[in-house]
Order: sequence, then structure tokens, then C-alpha cells
Amino acid sequence: MCPESTAAKVPLSRRIPHTGESVPAIGLGTWQVFDVAGNAKETAQARETLQTFVNLGGRVVDSSPMYGSSESVTGRLAAEIGVGGKLFVATKVWTSGREAGIRQMEDSMRKLRVERLDLMQVHNLVDAQTHLATLRDWKKSGRIRYLGVTHYHAGAHVDLERIIAPGDVDFIQANYSLAEPEAGRRLLAAAAGSRTAVIVNRPFAEGAMFRRVSGKALPEWTREIGCATWAQYFSKWILAHPAVTCAIPGTRNPRHVADNVAAARDPLPDETMRRRMASHFASL
Ligand SMILES: NC(=O)c1ccc[n+]([C@@H]2O[C@H](COP(=O)([O-])OP(=O)(O)OC[C@H]3O[C@@H](n4cnc5c(N)ncnc54)[C@H](OP(=O)(O)O)[C@@H]3O)[C@@H](O)[C@H]2O)c1
Repeated sequence: MCPESTAAKVPLSRRIPHTGESVPAIGLGTWQVFDVAGNAKETAQARETLQTFVNLGGRVVDSSPMYGSSESVTGRLAAEIGVGGKLFVATKVWTSGREAGIRQMEDSMRKLRVERLDLMQVHNLVDAQTHLATLRDWKKSGRIRYLGVTHYHAGAHVDLERIIAPGDVDFIQANYSLAEPEAGRRLLAAAAGSRTAVIVNRPFAEGAMFRRVSGKALPEWTREIGCATWAQYFSKWILAHPAVTCAIPGTRNPRHVADNVAAARDPLPDETMRRRMASHFASL
């Protein structure tokens, strides 16, 4: 195989500003879709999805104790497939109080079957200062590699911006998409300014964007940026923002995960093309 065609198959990667470490620009969200313990058919779908994701070069997997059995399903499947060592595992703490937070985070590590987490995030900023104090200690002692904060709603972007301003938070995770573009007003620039990595959640507005384009043809001009599907249109628009480190679409469908990873390829849209994509989406 020639080097060009090999390179074309490797997803684009982005550097985490605080360390320079590279991660693939498309990850995998597990909310709802990996909460499938006890359902053999759905667990088999999740296994095939995770296997496909890793085969195609994916690494970043995002979970939370809020997502039912998702953490334990992810940990079990990663062990069964033998890909645990390849993943960049992100989860969250979602409770109040220092001791409760520590218990929950230790529980998550057991479920995810890791001795050291790549990224622990404060979910929806719940008791953020308490957990960030614990996470700073855990980072020093090597129990986690990176710490972060998340939210899913534009109403909280101002709080995320305040928390990352000092520059000691490694990651924010926030909603950003053609349907929910508010992070583009200030938050993403603030993240770039504080050298904070950005994980984009809800890249498809929880699937609502597919309902909006249902039955509508992808415009011919999107071929210029290598879009084969609406998922790639939506994802390439996100990934073209220079502050974005990684987007994490949720899916348990192996074909969809392959489609999503394929969006992390050049060419990405320039600013003129991004504006065209936004106005076309707004017109639908
Ligand atoms: N506060 C927080 O920290 C927070 C909040 C929200 C989300 N998150 C994280 O972000 C992740 C993503 O957000 P989300 O799951 O809410 O929404 P999303 O990724 O915007 O959308 C998920 C939906 O898109 C569909 N989909 C995925 N890939 C597709 C493709 N290629 N073609 C067609 N449909 C596709 C999925 O259906 P199929 O299953 O049929 O593929 C699912 O219905 C979550 O899983 C979670 O890890 C974090």
C-alpha cells in the first residue's frame, strides 16, 4: 500500500495543548448507546462498534457514572476485545461532596477496568470546586492523566469559561454543532486562549440534526471537502474549528461509527465553506 493511501486511512489527530500528546479527532460517546448490560443483542452491537472504532484508529471513549451500565459495559468489552491499552478513557464524577466523589471515581475506575484514567471530568459542573481539588491531587499522584469539566448546554458556557481562565484545567467538554453553535461566540476562543483542550459533545444535537435533513440530498458542493454523508458534513464543520480537539458522537451502530471516524480526514472546510455550510443547514 502506498504511503498516501495509508495516511488517508488514519484519522486526523489533534494535540492536547498542555502536553502536546496527540489524540484522534473523532471519539465515541457512550450515553444511552452503551447502557446495554443485560441485553445480549445490544451488547453484541456495542462490541462490534467498539471493535470497528479501534480498528479504524479511534481511541477516545467518553462515559459517566450517570450513564447507567455504560462504564461497566465499556470496560468489559474493551477487555474482551483486548483493546483496553489502546483507548484514551474519559469519564466523569457526578455527585456532591469530597468523599462521595472519591468513592464514585474509584468505582468508575473498577468498572472501566483501568488503574489510571486518561481523563476525569466534573460532569455538568456538579460541586466542581470540591472535585477539582481532589483531581489536582490525583493528577499529581498519577491516578489520572488529565482533568476537566463538562456541560451540555450553552447556558453554562460562561461558567466553563470562568473555570478554565486560570489555565490549569486540561479539558473542557461542551456542546457545539451547526444546531447549537453558541460555543463559537466566546467559549472556543477562551479555550484556545487558556490552552485548554476541547471535547465536543452532542455533535449531532442528540440525533435531532439527522431528523432535520431526513430525505434531503447532500449538496453537490460538499464533495469539495470530501463529504459522503450528513454525519460527515456535521462533523467536518465542527473539526474545522481550530480550538476543537475531538468530537464524540454517540452510537452503537458499527456503520455509523465508521462513517463518523471517516469525517476526521482532510480536506476540512475553510471559513468561507463553513459559513456556506451553516447557512445551508439553517435554510433546511
Ligand atoms: N454533560 C455532559 O457531559 C454530556 C452531555 C451530553 C453528551 N455527552 C457525551 O457526548 C456524547 C455525544 O452526545 P449524544 O450522544 O447526546 O448525542 P449526539 O452524538 O449528538 O447524537 C447521537 C445520535 O446520533 C446518531 N448517530 C450517530 N452517528 C450517526 C451517523 N453516522 N449517522 C446517523 N446517525 C448517527 C445516533 O444514533 P445511532 O445510535 O443509531 O447511531 C444517536 O441517535 C454522549 O454519548 C456523551 O458521551 C456528555
